[in-house]
Amino acid sequence: MVQVKDLHVAFSDHGHLEEAVHGISFTIDDGEIVGIVGESGSGKTQTALAMAGLSPRHAQLTGEISIDGKNLVGMSRDDLRSMQGNEITMVFQEPMTSLNPTMRIGRQVEEALAIHTNLSKDERREKALQAMRDVELPDVDRAYRKYPHEMSGGQRQRVMIASAIIGHPKLLIADEPTTALDVTIQAEILKLLQKLNVEKGMSILFISHDLRVIRKLCSRVIVMNQGLIVEEGPVEEVFNHPKDDYTKKLIASIPTRKRVSE
Ligand SMILES: Nc1ncnc2c1ncn2[C@@H]1O[C@H](COP(=O)(O)OP(=O)(O)OP(=O)(O)O)[C@@H](O)[C@H]1O
Ligand SMILES: [Mg+2]
Repeated sequence: MVQVKDLHVAFSDHGHLEEAVHGISFTIDDGEIVGIVGESGSGKTQTALAMAGLSPRHAQLTGEISIDGKNLVGMSRDDLRSMQGNEITMVFQEPMTSLNPTMRIGRQVEEALAIHTNLSKDERREKALQAMRDVELPDVDRAYRKYPHEMSGGQRQRVMIASAIIGHPKLLIADEPTTALDVTIQAEILKLLQKLNVEKGMSILFISHDLRVIRKLCSRVIVMNQGLIVEEGPVEEVFNHPKDDYTKKLIASIPTRKRVSE
């Protein structure tokens, strides 16, 4: 369904090009959950932003990102915008920075519908409430009228996921969506993503620096280092028989007791 081919992401800096992603290729099948793991600065977020059509303006992309046969690289801003929401959406690490503190939750969840559809106010509200139920927010009628600061961190991340899934996207890109949350809440959000994957048939690209989280959620993992894919394969295979030295180091850095008990 999604095919990334020889993707390069570069930034021009005083006339010379600094490349963050050096030509990577991978695919995501319908309904699949794929993980990207790699240390800070390895190019995970820039890869994700390119796939969501959200690269910074000064980024230069080459290669191909096809979603259902349409290539995002070189697409106009308007065409990209029309793909966002119903084809691809993205949730970020810190929901507080993505949410507008002065706007009620319900309005933010249904924002994509206000932009992309001709639905009436009541129809948008109905769909927003349904999306909020889908992400298992309690008491959605009250939550609809709340402001972001009146919710917990985990609830805010559910709100972000609700606004991401309201347009029934084929692919959800989640960039470190649980890193800012404590372990219990993290586990609940992972369960929710699994449920949405099964019930909605939505593919997920899940980005994390934590290989243990990837192992719980994903069927396949892509390991990035310094802007390149150094290893890729089924999670258990990569975890138990890593081929690349960098992957071996990542796995070795997980405390042994945890590895045995999992
Ligand atoms: N807006 C930008 N302008 C110029 N260079 C950037 C920009 N954003 C990122 N980079 C560079 O791109 C490279 C990859 O960054 P990226 O954010 O993709 O890393 P990451 O793997 O997501 O790291 P982290 O785990 O810290 O989130 C880095 O070397 C960074 O300096
Ligand atoms: Mg990042």
